[in-house]
This record gives sequence, structure tokens and C-alpha cells, in this order.
Amino acid sequence: MPILKASTAAEDASVPSSPPPLSLYIHLPWCLRKCPYCDFNSHETRGNESLAGYVDCLVRDLEMSLAQVWGRSVQSIFMGGGTPNLFAPDLIDRLLMAVRARLRIAAGAEVTMEANPAAAQGESADWRAYREAGVTRVSIGVQSFHGPSLKALGRMHSGTQALEAVAAAVAVFDRVNLDLMYGLPGQTAKQASADLACALGLGVGHLSLYQLTLEPNTLFAARPPELPDEDLIAQMQTALLDRLAAAGFLRYEVSAFARLGQVCQHNLNYWQFGDYLGIGAGAHSKLSLPEAGILRQTCTRQPQGGDSYQVAVARGDGSHRKSRPVPRADLPFEFMLNGLRLVQGVAVTAYTERTGRPVEDLLPAIASAQAKGLLKTEAGHWRATERGMDFLNDLQALFLPE
Ligand SMILES: C[S@@+](CC[C@H](N)C(=O)[O-])C[C@H]1O[C@@H](n2cnc3c(N)ncnc32)[C@H](O)[C@@H]1O
Ligand code: SF4
Repeated sequence: MPILKASTAAEDASVPSSPPPLSLYIHLPWCLRKCPYCDFNSHETRGNESLAGYVDCLVRDLEMSLAQVWGRSVQSIFMGGGTPNLFAPDLIDRLLMAVRARLRIAAGAEVTMEANPAAAQGESADWRAYREAGVTRVSIGVQSFHGPSLKALGRMHSGTQALEAVAAAVAVFDRVNLDLMYGLPGQTAKQASADLACALGLGVGHLSLYQLTLEPNTLFAARPPELPDEDLIAQMQTALLDRLAAAGFLRYEVSAFARLGQVCQHNLNYWQFGDYLGIGAGAHSKLSLPEAGILRQTCTRQPQGGDSYQVAVARGDGSHRKSRPVPRADLPFEFMLNGLRLVQGVAVTAYTERTGRPVEDLLPAIASAQAKGLLKTEAGHWRATERGMDFLNDLQALFLPE
């Protein structure tokens, strides 16, 4: 696999004294239809893809990557998309069996699968089959339960379908997340609150709450819908946060809320600068390797066709995976970019543990952030103040290299 010239990498390499926890991310890239707001590496299905062939390809990709994670055990697995539940339970079973045969999976590891209600049957049989395949947690992209909002978002499911899919999942899994969005075209504060009330009434233990953003290269960026004004969005957000707190959901990351024991271990590992191996079209990895330092890798984005991920994997020469070392000067920003999203912040000792670099790398930016009232030290952690959370981009930017 192409890694930057050894001399460049070695001079700049930095590596933690012991490797951080390792997660596995698996990308399943197809959807029934591309949503107009979505900039994920997701592709509308033409109905002629071989999903079984893609699973075989994932297994080959994993095999080619094994040397990079040799001897380490995997703490969590996340199958994201795209719409992973377009893959029938027997394919997910085959995939997870192949993973277990090749990697050491820690006892009790969290195994999450994302799902779209439009691709789910409204009853429990499929969810049970996914559970039997080894899935322990599902994350369902509901977005809203309100018909007109779903329509404005180009979603293919109704509010009722979403309700039924979630109720069926909750009957099978102890750990269910719902994705909800707010600030939707034409949405009122009352509708946003009603969406949340509906989600809370379903008994899920985790919620991800996102303000709709217009992302470049999406249909919404080209033809923006009319969105609620800033004041209304702020009013919605305050009401939603209050309601979540009152319902016993702890905000532990900018967009993530969990009941006790329901925090997503996989995402927590990303935010804490843990390692992850990503397999699949467009999947990203971050790995700490004793000989090469901290690397970021990206797989070819296009899943199928001419110069695609599947074609490159079939060549067997590793050309589907590009690798680059994280320059030493970028480590403070890379570390803080995710860590400061956590409400608890980052342990003062964590930077050295995760990067092998002295904490002095961070101190000038820490001092500047504290002087601006964006950061505080509490219980051995650096964490964003309330103001810091409101201006998170500005706070993170203080850690960029000069
Ligand atoms: C990969 S999708 C989840 C599963 C599935 N693909 C689905 O949509 O049902 C990840 C989540 O990111 C959120 N998301 C995607 N694009 C967004 C945008 N432009 N603004 C805010 N949230 C967005 C949505 O809540 C979505 O459920
Ligand atoms: S279903 Fe999910 S991943 Fe697919 S296009 Fe819509 S938001 Fe993106």
C-alpha cells in the first residue's frame, strides 16, 4: 500500500508507547435513494449490485489489512452507511462470521448496525435475525416522525413506518439509537418538540440530534430549501436540550445523548483519538503503528464500476487504500478536534498517551483558549466552557499548526 516516502514518515513519526483501543468500521454504501441533504459516501442502488460480492470484497480488504492490527483485539464494530439494512440478515451474519474468524473481538464488544426505516420491515423478525448474527445495537435514521418534514427531506418512509421500525427494534435490542434532525424546511418549534416527544415515548436509550446543515455537493446546496431563521433554530435547540435533560438523557457529546450505560462505545473511541480500521468503499482508518507512526488511510470511494473500490480490491495489490502519516505538527489539532466535542473534554494525560508527544505541544493553545473563556480545566480534564461549545470551531482552530 502506498505510504509517503519512508524518510518523510520516519522523521516526522510519533507513536504512543502502547497502542490505544482499536475499533472496526465497515462501510455499506448503498441506499434506496440518495437524500438531498446527505454528503455521506452513499449511492442510490440500481438494484443490480451483488451485495454478496461486496461482502466477499470486504473480507478481502480485511485480510489485506490484518498485518496492520496484528495481535490487537477489537473493542467495537460499527456497520455504517449508506443503509446497512439493505443487506439481509444472512449477509450480515456471513460478514460478522468472517470478521470473528480473522480478528480477536473483545468479550462484550458493541456491534452497531445503522438502519433506515424505509428498508426495514415493520415487524421484529429481521431485527431478531440481525441480533442472532451478532448485532448488539442498532442506530435508526428517523430524522422526523412528521409527514411533511419527512417529505421535505426526501425521505422514503412515513412517520408511521418509522414508529413501527423503532418499536420493533426496541422489542429486540437493549441498545437502540435514533437519529433526529431539527431546523427542517418549514418546521415549527412545536413540531421539533413533538418529534422528540415521540422518540422519547418509544423507550430508546440513545439519541443523536443534528441540526440540518446544507453540505456542499448535495442537492440542497444547489437548490437550498427555505429553513427556519436562526432565532427559531436556537429556540428549538434550547427546548430540545431541556426536554432531553428532563427525560434523563445525558449530553455527552455535541450531538449525542444517552441514558445511563447507553453511551456509544464506538463513537467514544473516535472522539478519544482511539484507533480504528475502516474497511469498505470510502472507509477511513486511523492507526498507530510502531514502525510508521500515526497514519490516516482512506479507501477508494466509488463502490462499483470502472475505477472502483471493488475493482481495486480484486487487484489484490492494496491500491484501494491510500495511507498518509499524520505530521507531528497536526497532532494537537487532530487530537482536540474530536476530543473537545465531548462534554467531559479530554484528560490532561490523554494527549501523551495517544500520540507519544509531550503535553507542551498543547499548552500555548490551551492558554489562549482559557484567556478567551472558551476552555476550562476541571477534574483533570480540559473541557469546553459553555461559550466554548457555542464557538466550537473557533476553539478547535486555536490548535491548528501556525
Ligand atoms: C448514515 S446516516 C444514518 C442511517 C441511514 N443512512 C438513514 O439515513 O436512515 C447518518 C445520519 O446523519 C445525519 N445527517 C446526514 N446528513 C445530514 C445533514 N446534512 N445535516 C444534519 N444531519 C445529517 C442524519 O441524521 C443521518 O441519519
Ligand atoms: S439514507 Fe442515510 S446515508 Fe443514505 S442518502 Fe439518506 S441520509 Fe444519506
